[in-house]
Amino acid sequence: MEKYFLLLFLYFLNVFASTSPCPVYDSLVQCFSENKIPGDQISKILYSPQNPSFTNVLESYIRNRRFNVSTTRKPNTIITPTAECHVSAAVTCAKKLGIQLKIRSGGHDYEGISYVSDHDFVILDLFNLRSINVSLDDQTAWVQSGALLGELYYRIWEKSNLLGFPAGVCPTVGVGGHLSGGGYGNMIRKYGLSVDHVIDAVIVDANGRVLDRKSMGEDLFWAIRGGGGASFGVILAYRINLVPVPPNVTVFNVQKSVDQNAIDAVFKYQQIVDTIDSDLFIRVLLQPITVNNTRSVRATFIGLFLGDGDRLLSITDSQFPELGLKKPDCFEKSWIDSVLYWSNFDNTTSPSVLLNRTPDKVNFLKRKSDYVKNPISKSGLQSLFDKMVEIGKVGLVFNSYGGIMKEIPESATPFPHRAGNLFKIQYSVNWDDESEEADKNYINQIRELYSFMTPFVSSNPRESYLNYRDLDIGIVDDPKNSFNQGKVYGVKYFKGNFDKLVKIKTKVDPDNVFRNEQSIPVYPFSGRKV
Ligand SMILES: Cc1cc2nc3c(=O)[nH]c(=O)nc-3n(C[C@H](O)[C@H](O)[C@H](O)COP(=O)(O)OP(=O)(O)OC[C@H]3O[C@@H](n4cnc5c(N)ncnc54)[C@H](O)[C@@H]3O)c2cc1C
Ligand SMILES: *[C@@H]1O[C@H](CO)[C@@H](O)[C@H](O)[C@H]1NC(C)=O
Ligand SMILES: *[C@@H]1O[C@H](CO)[C@@H](O)[C@H](O)[C@H]1NC(C)=O
Ligand SMILES: *[C@@H]1O[C@H](CO)[C@@H](O)[C@H](O)[C@H]1NC(C)=O
Ligand SMILES: *[C@@H]1O[C@H](CO)[C@@H](O)[C@H](O)[C@H]1NC(C)=O
Ligand SMILES: *[C@@H]1O[C@H](CO)[C@@H](O)[C@H](O)[C@H]1NC(C)=O
Repeated sequence: MEKYFLLLFLYFLNVFASTSPCPVYDSLVQCFSENKIPGDQISKILYSPQNPSFTNVLESYIRNRRFNVSTTRKPNTIITPTAECHVSAAVTCAKKLGIQLKIRSGGHDYEGISYVSDHDFVILDLFNLRSINVSLDDQTAWVQSGALLGELYYRIWEKSNLLGFPAGVCPTVGVGGHLSGGGYGNMIRKYGLSVDHVIDAVIVDANGRVLDRKSMGEDLFWAIRGGGGASFGVILAYRINLVPVPPNVTVFNVQKSVDQNAIDAVFKYQQIVDTIDSDLFIRVLLQPITVNNTRSVRATFIGLFLGDGDRLLSITDSQFPELGLKKPDCFEKSWIDSVLYWSNFDNTTSPSVLLNRTPDKVNFLKRKSDYVKNPISKSGLQSLFDKMVEIGKVGLVFNSYGGIMKEIPESATPFPHRAGNLFKIQYSVNWDDESEEADKNYINQIRELYSFMTPFVSSNPRESYLNYRDLDIGIVDDPKNSFNQGKVYGVKYFKGNFDKLVKIKTKVDPDNVFRNEQSIPVYPFSGRKV
């Protein structure tokens, strides 16, 4: 009997000792306090899973419903800093507790790696750090990581309708992930990538120090312009050069069915895309469709021209007549209205819609990427269209390269996909059904099309775009083998720049505080834990 009570006593002791509801949260609170963050601030910026607002904060920046299901592992705590010192404390404390820190700005990572993990983890969510200061004097801006591209475009336009910034076309993408991973949009042929216009940055390093370009040094500054911020530190803000845009640009959207010579037009697109006037950017969407019970593929050509419609037509008439562009297809509008046009808002929408941080709809989705270096033949395109019809739901997006992308050396930034690429392909599939079968089905579809494309795309390595995150191309899941595993995806994302990234990583974060499924690994045998 006595023995029984003793056991019961030990049992309760054990239960109470181990079930403080969130030990990670408790340790973080204590550590933040040791790092001189006042208690009233701590209670506002740290969310335990027991906090009634936890779910709302977590879901606010989920942009792929695949990672919003009951089986998705939840963070042990969410940290929502409102000041630099909170970010420093977060890094210092995550390091001390040995817990993985996931950094989230806009949450648009296609694989959700800014807010999902297979291990215990905490989210450092930067949505409160989103100020933007545009300076007309030197045509630059400071923009914090938690700002969204739409907010940046709006703040530029508010000051001047003759300035813009070359970055992504989706206004809810976050600055933190987008700029640290490259960043391209419809001015890529004229102005290159977002990272080509970054001139300074503020980062919190693995020791919790706040550094700018001067104090971090040129190597680390190089790495965070395309190498992915999350391997190197927490980027707080970037300083960017703005670019000139004309008072009016011209946009168009032309659809072609196979009967309307879609294949000839796509074939010719590949011939002209490298060298045509760099004021012109054309995206091609290939989508499987059903018309009158017949399945086929439709090609949609969406354009931005940094000039007027007459000059555009003189270029397309002479160099790309297969497009069949006509005056009524061309809409002249201010650059900010072209941003709205490219985001599918109708032409009565005011630019202030860009301040809306929440997208209308969040889908289940999967993306992959490829680079095309040689034109695909007409018979190749025909077989591709047939395959897309056979597979079912996967669409392709071709984004033209050439222009200034040919002039910038591969080693200028970690982003290596420059000269020699005609266009990038994005594979795209969205769905609405949350069943496991749907997930399996659509992921299989996109992988099947990717496999079909092998003979048409880059090889050795088969190149991929970091910001089109795709865990299919390799992950680190064995910390002891992280260098060899990291090399597999590393050379696809960075080609020859991978080695330099590993060197910088080994120097600035030898303990691998900033790690994720596809981070830059530390050199093995560097005498430190990897
Ligand atoms: C609808 C949609 C449209 C898109 N359109 C384009 C496009 O036109 N052009 C293009 O180039 N890309 C595009 N993308 C891809 C987009 O650029 C990347 O997903 C980008 O990484 C998103 O940044 P984020 O801050 O929103 O994402 P997050 O999910 O918050 O972060 C992405 C990655 O960056 C890391 N990270 C985020 N913030 C920081 C920080 N402050 N410091 C260190 N690391 C950080 C995260 O940990 C994660 O690894 C699009 C994505 C979506 C979903
Ligand atoms: C996430 O799932 C919850 C519960 O089903 C739902 O209410 C919420 O709208 C979803 N959010 C996103 C961004 O998918
Ligand atoms: C913008 O300016 C304000 C006021 O000077 C400052 O508090 C803020 O930190 C600045 N933002 C950036 C990103 O530099
Ligand atoms: C579809 O069928 C309708 C009715 O027969 C016809 O008017 C229309 O032109 C057809 N559309 C196409 C794209 O064939
Ligand atoms: C821009 O285009 C609009 C619509 O065609 C036109 O009304 C306006 O005059 C143009 N502005 C300039 C500066 O060309
Ligand atoms: C606005 O869109 C409508 C419908 O698509 C179109 O008819 C109209 O010409 C457009 N106006 C301008 C100024 O682009």
